[in-house]
Amino acid sequence: LASHLYRYQGFWFPARYLAGVLSCQQHFLPQPHDIFLVSTPKSGTTWLKAIAFALLHRSPHPPSAPDHPLTSSNPHALVPFLEINHYADGRLPDLSASRLFSTHLPFPSLPHSIANNRACKIVYLCRNPKDIFVSLWHFTNGLRPQNAPASSMDGAFDMFCRGVSLFGPCWDHMLGYWNLSREDSGRVMFLRFEEMKERPKEEVRRLAEFLGCPFTAEEEEGGVVEDVLRLCSFEGLSGLEVNRSGKLSSGEENRVFFRRGVVGDWRNYLDQEMAARFDRIAEEKFRGSGLVL
Ligand code: A3P
Repeated sequence: LASHLYRYQGFWFPARYLAGVLSCQQHFLPQPHDIFLVSTPKSGTTWLKAIAFALLHRSPHPPSAPDHPLTSSNPHALVPFLEINHYADGRLPDLSASRLFSTHLPFPSLPHSIANNRACKIVYLCRNPKDIFVSLWHFTNGLRPQNAPASSMDGAFDMFCRGVSLFGPCWDHMLGYWNLSREDSGRVMFLRFEEMKERPKEEVRRLAEFLGCPFTAEEEEGGVVEDVLRLCSFEGLSGLEVNRSGKLSSGEENRVFFRRGVVGDWRNYLDQEMAARFDRIAEEKFRGSGLVL
């Protein structure tokens, strides 16, 4: 994997993304009220995309409707990635039609047109780096060509700790948006995977409010919060036929984005020494920032 990563503006980018990154840095013009969902890979991007899409589009598409778009399309197909500027066949997606974007761009690489635009909103999703690492290790092994040997966890772990991972170092990625959210909490919301699992209703209400579409008393009474959560739950999304057998236009199978969807799976993979190394890195990187994971 490392051989396909390039260091740019302090972070490791997959080679195939770089043209799109440069292109959106130079040309992307946000519109007022655009919303950007930002995360490092394996933080729960797919989940956040599904929830944000369901919240913002719940007027034409009630989350309890049997033909909701999420029942036939993977969340990645409904919310375009900002930094991928073309499909595998060379076509450009119609970005102008969508006002909800998702991106893995670290803050230093976020187009200035977005970073400086006070009318745009950013939702950052953070997750415990230990779980991100374990999730990423399964993900990259799952994507390797048939017959290729599985990468060793020890080697991948060492590289991850040194920051060499998709859009890594993940600690710096988190810190960039954490600092931004502290400067301007009205424009940048900092969400955590763990808190979304622990108190989903509260976090989804908070997100709806931040996005400017709070639940009405009528919706609360009608169980719409629960409907959104059910539709976007791990069981709900991963059980859909489209996510079991479908593929993205980039060729990846939808099912690779759903594995376990739990907090703390790292305990099944990392020994004490590995966990301590992660803790030391977090302590060093986050010192003085107020960010605690
Ligand atoms: P695990 O590998 O730990 O299970 P991303 O979407 O950023 O690629 O992140 C993928 C991770 O989010 C995977 O974590 C996946 O299982 C989990 N995930 C996907 N959908 C989810 C959902 N609806 N609820 C909770 N976790 C989910």
